[in-house]
Amino acid sequence: MEPRLHPAARVADIAPFHVMEVQTAARALEAAGRDVVHMEIGEPDFPTPAPVLDAARTALADGHIRYTSALGLPELRRAIARHYGDAYGIDVAPERIVVTAGSSAALLLVMALLLNRDEEVLLTDPGYPCNRHFVRVLEGAPVGVPVGPDENYQLSATSIARHWSTRTRAALIASPSNPTGTMLAHDEMARVVRAVDDLGGRLVVDEIYLGLSYGGAPRSALALSDAIFVVSSFSKYFNMTGWRLGWIVAPERHVRDLEKLAQNLYISPATMSQRAALACFQPATLTQLEERRQAFQARRDFLVPALRELGFGIPLMPGGGFFVYADCSRFSEDSLAFCRDVLEGTGVAITPGIDFGRHHASRHVRFAYTIAMEKLEEGVTRLRRFLA
Ligand SMILES: Cc1ncc(COP(=O)(O)O)c(C=O)c1O
Repeated sequence: MEPRLHPAARVADIAPFHVMEVQTAARALEAAGRDVVHMEIGEPDFPTPAPVLDAARTALADGHIRYTSALGLPELRRAIARHYGDAYGIDVAPERIVVTAGSSAALLLVMALLLNRDEEVLLTDPGYPCNRHFVRVLEGAPVGVPVGPDENYQLSATSIARHWSTRTRAALIASPSNPTGTMLAHDEMARVVRAVDDLGGRLVVDEIYLGLSYGGAPRSALALSDAIFVVSSFSKYFNMTGWRLGWIVAPERHVRDLEKLAQNLYISPATMSQRAALACFQPATLTQLEERRQAFQARRDFLVPALRELGFGIPLMPGGGFFVYADCSRFSEDSLAFCRDVLEGTGVAITPGIDFGRHHASRHVRFAYTIAMEKLEEGVTRLRRFLA
């Protein structure tokens, strides 16, 4: 028999990150001696806080190197539940917390829990690309809802109702969003929760950037309902991307099934990372994280007006996260080529819109303000010279 060497059909539907191409080209420039301003990188530039590193060292010294429960260490689940009380004034039972291998695993588990073959999930276009791929890998059908500034780049109760079909099982919202940084106002989130409930579906809210909000005290969607799934992470606010640790706050009746899925898919989240993360909630760590949040806000407040002045279209001020999604059509209708030209011509690395979907993607680029202020200023100066 002929060997069947081709990969499964789903693989063709998974797009690579074009930003990796930008990053490879940026590294090649650096290897050739050029200085590159990195505004393409989707992770904080700040190191993991010292108390977290210390806790990791202690965990290793104490021999904490074995599997934990698939749901995570009980003390970490309790600490995360307490954090919802301290940061958002919400009472969450520790039994509802499922610690995961990053919010990536959290999103995968929730989709695995909810979806049968061909069932649909509503997502924004533009949006975080992995979401549609998680759905596709599970043989579900991602439905990208085109969103622009008029929609605050977010789903709404109205657009969810309009795009809901008999096959739709869930809607997924990221607030603040990647790539646009926009957030759903709490009253609109309440309408969305009601709409999805009325339609008999499930709402999944990705709050991975919620700690990095810049418009007053952020509110978690968990305050609105016990029936939604909230996904979050230690990656961004807690500066722990490489530790691969996140969590789900799930409706209690689904925790056992999520546990079963986690056991089978990856057994348990990394033990050392969990032990380290316990130090995230110490006052000293939280003080440092608040300073870093303010630093991100100052960078945003510098970068957005500066880019607007250069001619980029940024109709809405991002409310959180560390990205600016900018219309570059004044300079180019082909954002991938534009990103290559900008990198080549001025040594500034940015991400093309096509990484985030199809809707007006070739007219947009994403800037990340995950570099120090002086570097941002340098990037803007170079762009000004280049675009002139
Ligand atoms: C919106 C959003 N959700 C989820 C993730 C996944 O992050 P992690 O798996 O590191 O928690 C990212 C990463 O960039 C993201 O931007």
